[in-house]
Parts: sequence; structure tokens; C-alpha cells
Amino acid sequence: MGTKNLFKAIVLFLFAGALMMTSCVKEGPMGLPGLDGKDGVDGTNGQNGVDGTASCIACHNQTNKALISAQFENSVHGEGPNVAYAGARSGCATCHSGNGFVAAKTLGVRDLPANLDKGEPFTCATCHTSHQTFDFANDGPDYALRLTDPLKPYMDNTGSVQIDMGASNICIDCHQPREHAPVANAEGNFTIPNNRFGPHYSTQSVVVEGIWGYTFAQASTAIPGAGSHPHRTAASCNSCHMHDSTNGTVGGHTWNVGPAACSSCHSGINTAEAIQAAKAEYYELFNELGEKLLEKGAMRLTTTGSLEPNPNATVPIDVAGALFNYRLLYGDHSGGIHNPAYAKALLKNSIEALN
Ligand code: HEC
Ligand code: HEC
Ligand code: HEC
Ligand code: HEC
Ligand code: HEC
Ligand code: HEC
Repeated sequence: MGTKNLFKAIVLFLFAGALMMTSCVKEGPMGLPGLDGKDGVDGTNGQNGVDGTASCIACHNQTNKALISAQFENSVHGEGPNVAYAGARSGCATCHSGNGFVAAKTLGVRDLPANLDKGEPFTCATCHTSHQTFDFANDGPDYALRLTDPLKPYMDNTGSVQIDMGASNICIDCHQPREHAPVANAEGNFTIPNNRFGPHYSTQSVVVEGIWGYTFAQASTAIPGAGSHPHRTAASCNSCHMHDSTNGTVGGHTWNVGPAACSSCHSGINTAEAIQAAKAEYYELFNELGEKLLEKGAMRLTTTGSLEPNPNATVPIDVAGALFNYRLLYGDHSGGIHNPAYAKALLKNSIEALN
């Protein structure tokens, strides 16, 4: 960050403070030399002002900086395992490189021009820039986030979808899907284009919101309303992934979820093991759907024994829709925790459609 800028700002504040102090003298000003005028009227005593930098130091202090930097180095954002692979490619850099994201947001584009510099790992400046105002009392904490606008997903054809997650809007700008649900051809079928078919690994925004899954004409389990789950209404990306943290390995700028993010609402989810256990019901359904998609020829086994979409297979649209739902939840990577009710409804309806 701009330690220098911060220093400058603090100096400015001290300077402003000094000006205020000199204007609080008790006596009136002296007359000009040789032309003594009348004594001025006594000024009123000034009130002790608030220390101009106290509110700043709550966030801007060395202890905080050292802790946050250590957390960041421990994070997947900080390590960037896929920066080398995806960070410099124009269709990928917007989300996979720090300077790519900044450039894309500055230019207001999704795919960056080929000649632009990209491919650098994330830094603090990927997400942070200047404060909007310094009026924290009235405008809220204002974490100097680069992006605070609600998300209008790239893949939305209708132009009507808007997701507002407040201070988590910066998260969902990158953690948004890259494909929408399949559409049937004239025969009511769909041909699976490749073994990566699906909305990518960045579906967290829409899964938390509870939208974007493929829905079936006939289904027994009702799909919960958009944005209705308590994990969306009473929690957020940041409250779960950045909950208060005093160590370098969980919460804060590690973005790792620890049990403290759950136990305030679920007294029973108070260990890392309990978080894993909370995924059990989801995985039963998820694995059952995987088996069914394999039977229907929509998935195939890789040489290492895992499942992947079966390229070039033509399947009825509902089978492709079930595959899409499987991939949407697979890419979400939360084991159903992001939106348990929505995830289970999609899985149950998909399994039913394949019976
Ligand atoms: C709620 C936490 C918080 C408070 C309170 C806060 N800041 Fe910040 N500020 C940040 C964050 C986060 C950043 C961006 C990351 C960084 O540079 O460390 C930042 C960045 C800055 C920058 C660098 C901006 C740039 O464009 O490089 C300046 C200057 C700054 N703050 C000054 C202040 C001053 C002065 C105050 C008090 C009036 C203040 N901040 C209060 C969190 C805060
Ligand atoms: C809309 C933003 C976005 C775009 C565009 C994007 N990605 Fe990603 N990608 C992500 C996010 C976010 C993750 C991490 C999600 C997670 O780990 O759960 C990710 C994860 C990955 C992973 C890791 C998968 C794994 O198994 O953990 C690879 C590989 C990858 N992306 C490659 C690419 C490539 C190649 C492109 C361009 C063709 C691309 N991405 C475009 C957002 C994006
Ligand atoms: C991926 C985006 C991202 C990156 C990268 C990032 N931050 Fe933040 N930071 C956030 C968000 C979001 C918040 C607000 C969290 C909240 O809602 O409580 C925040 C809050 C903060 C705060 C104020 C709250 C606190 O924890 O004290 C400081 C200071 C800060 N960041 C500094 C940094 C520094 C220094 C770096 C680099 C080492 C960094 N950030 C990198 C997203 C990011
Ligand atoms: C500039 C785009 C961008 C922003 C902003 C961003 N992410 Fe990410 N995030 C990614 C990418 C890309 C990856 C995967 C990095 C890789 O594999 O190299 C990732 C990885 C993660 C991971 C780890 C996934 C794993 O595989 O373990 C978590 C958790 C995460 N992000 C949460 C968040 C949260 C919460 C926010 C908001 C504070 C956020 N992200 C903001 C792009 C972004
Ligand atoms: C109710 C709490 C909660 C909320 C809200 C939440 N997450 Fe998560 N998230 C989790 C849990 C729990 C996991 C699984 C972590 C694990 O198993 O270690 C997870 C997993 C992830 C992963 C994959 C991490 C990995 O290890 O592969 C990413 C990326 C992610 N979340 C991003 C987000 C984003 C972006 C949002 C907001 C749209 C969000 N999360 C909202 C709790 C939450
Ligand atoms: C703000 C409060 C809050 C937080 C924080 C929270 N949850 Fe929840 N969670 C709820 C509520 C309320 C429900 C809905 C219960 C219901 O189905 O009626 C729920 C539902 C669930 C369910 C589905 C239960 C079922 O029977 O279907 C699981 C699993 C779950 N949460 C796990 C977690 C985990 C793991 C975390 C931490 C990463 C977490 N929750 C954080 C409030 C919260």
C-alpha cells in the first residue's frame, strides 16, 4: 500500500490540527508596530477536538498491517496457483491476475485487449484503492474497496439480474459463472461441447444467491426464492470467509473459513470437523447424481477414476440440465454450504429427472 500516501495524509491531518490550535488563542491580535490599536475582545476557550488520526489508526497500524500481510501470503489469492496458467490470457486475466482485474475494471470491459500488460499475481491494490469519503461515522467503515457496485453477471442475457452483496460485491465480480444453463436444439437435445462443460469454478455468487440452476418442467422439490437463504440474508462472503481473525491461517485475509464463522448461529458447528460433517447430506445426493449422469452417458470416467462431462455426447435437454446443475455445484466448491436449501433442491430434482 501507499505507506507514503498514508504518511502524507497523517501529516496533513496534523498540519490541519496545528492550524486549529493557533486560531484558538485567548487574546485578540496585536496591533501593527507603532500604531497600537485597542486591545481585542477575549476569545472564548476552544473545546478539545477529537484526535484527527484516531479513527484512521484503527485500521492503519503496523500490527494490523503485519498480520494482514501474513494472512494474505497464506491465502490462495496471495499464492495464485493458477496465475501462471490463466493470468496472462485475455479471456481469463480479468479474474486470474491482479493487474488484469484492475485494467478490466478501469476500461469497463470483460475480455482484455491482447496487447495489454497482465499476468501479475494479486496484491493489496487488486481490491483496494482510495476511500470514497473519510466520513466513516455517517458513511460506514468504507474499506477503500476498488469496486462496490452490485454485480450484473456477464452471462445474463436478460439484462435484469443484479446481485448486491455490499462489501462482498468485489468478491462476486470474479466469483461469477462463465456459462448459463443449456438450451435445447430443435429435437429437444443438447450436445456436450467439451469435458469442461459448465459454468467454471467461479459459481459462488449465483449459488449463494440461489439462481442460475437448470429448472425442470416437472419437479417435486420447490426451488427456494432468490436471495432467500439465511446464509445470504444474515451472512455474506466476507462474514464467513473474513470473520474476525487474530491468527495467520484462518479468517481475515486468508479467506479460509473457520468454525467461528458458523458457531454464532449453529452452536453445534464449532470445529473444523463439524464443518466437514455438515456437508455429508449434500455429498450423498451429489454422488448419487454423478452415478446417474455416468449411466446416462452424460459423464465419463477419466483415467484417474474421476468423473468429467462426456464430450460430443448428445443427450436429452433435461439430462444436460442435470449435468449443468452437477457442474454448477461442483465448481462452487463449498459442499453445499453456500446455500444448503438451494443445492439440495437442485440435486433432488436432477436425480428425479434422470429416474
Ligand atoms: C475501516 C478501516 C479504515 C479506516 C478507518 C481508514 N482506512 Fe484508510 N484505508 C483502508 C484500507 C483497507 C485501505 C487500502 C489498503 C491499504 O492501502 O492498506 C486504505 C487506504 C488508505 C490510503 C491510500 C489510498 C491510496 O489511494 O493509495 C490513504 C491515504 C488512507 N487510507 C488514509 C486514511 C485516513 C487519513 C484515515 C482516517 C481519516 C483512514 N484512512 C481510515 C482502511 C481504512
Ligand atoms: C469470471 C472470472 C473468471 C474468469 C473469466 C476465469 N476464471 Fe478461472 N477461476 C475463477 C475463480 C474465482 C476460480 C477459483 C474458484 C475456486 O477455487 O473455487 C477459478 C479457478 C480456476 C482454475 C482452478 C480449478 C481448480 O480445480 O481449482 C483454473 C485451472 C482456471 N480457473 C482456469 C481458467 C482459464 C484457463 C480461464 C480462461 C479461459 C479462466 N479460468 C477464466 C474465475 C474466473
Ligand atoms: C481479494 C480482495 C482483497 C485483497 C487482495 C486485499 N483485501 Fe483488504 N479487505 C478486503 C475486503 C473485502 C475487506 C473488508 C472486509 C469486511 O467486510 O470486513 C478488507 C479489509 C481490509 C482492511 C480493514 C479491516 C481490517 O481487517 O483491518 C485493511 C486494513 C486491509 N483490508 C488491508 C489490506 C492489505 C494490507 C492487503 C494486502 C496485503 C489487502 N487488504 C488485500 C479485500 C481485499
Ligand atoms: C480479482 C478477482 C477476484 C476477487 C476480487 C476475489 N477473488 Fe477469490 N479467487 C479468485 C481466483 C482467480 C481464485 C483462484 C486463484 C488461483 O487458483 O490462482 C480465487 C480463490 C478464492 C478462494 C480459495 C479457493 C480455493 O481453491 O481454495 C476463496 C475462498 C475466495 N477466492 C474467496 C473470495 C472472497 C470472499 C472474495 C472477496 C473478498 C474474493 N474471493 C475476491 C478471484 C478473485
Ligand atoms: C455461510 C458461510 C459462507 C458464506 C456466506 C460464503 N461462504 Fe464460501 N465457503 C464456506 C464454506 C464452509 C466453504 C467450504 C470450505 C472448506 O471446506 O474448507 C466455502 C467454500 C468457498 C470456496 C472454495 C474454497 C475451497 O477450499 O475450494 C470459495 C471460492 C468461496 N467459498 C467463495 C465464496 C464467495 C465468493 C461467497 C459470497 C458469494 C461465499 N463464499 C459465501 C462458507 C461460506
Ligand atoms: C447468520 C447465521 C448463520 C451463519 C453465520 C451460518 N448459518 Fe448455517 N444456517 C443458518 C440458518 C438460519 C439455516 C436454515 C435452517 C433451516 O433450514 O431452517 C442454516 C442452514 C444451514 C445448513 C442446512 C441445514 C439443514 O438441515 O438443511 C447447513 C449444513 C449449515 N447451515 C451450515 C453452516 C456452516 C458450516 C456455517 C459456517 C461456515 C454456517 N452454516 C453459518 C444460519 C447461519
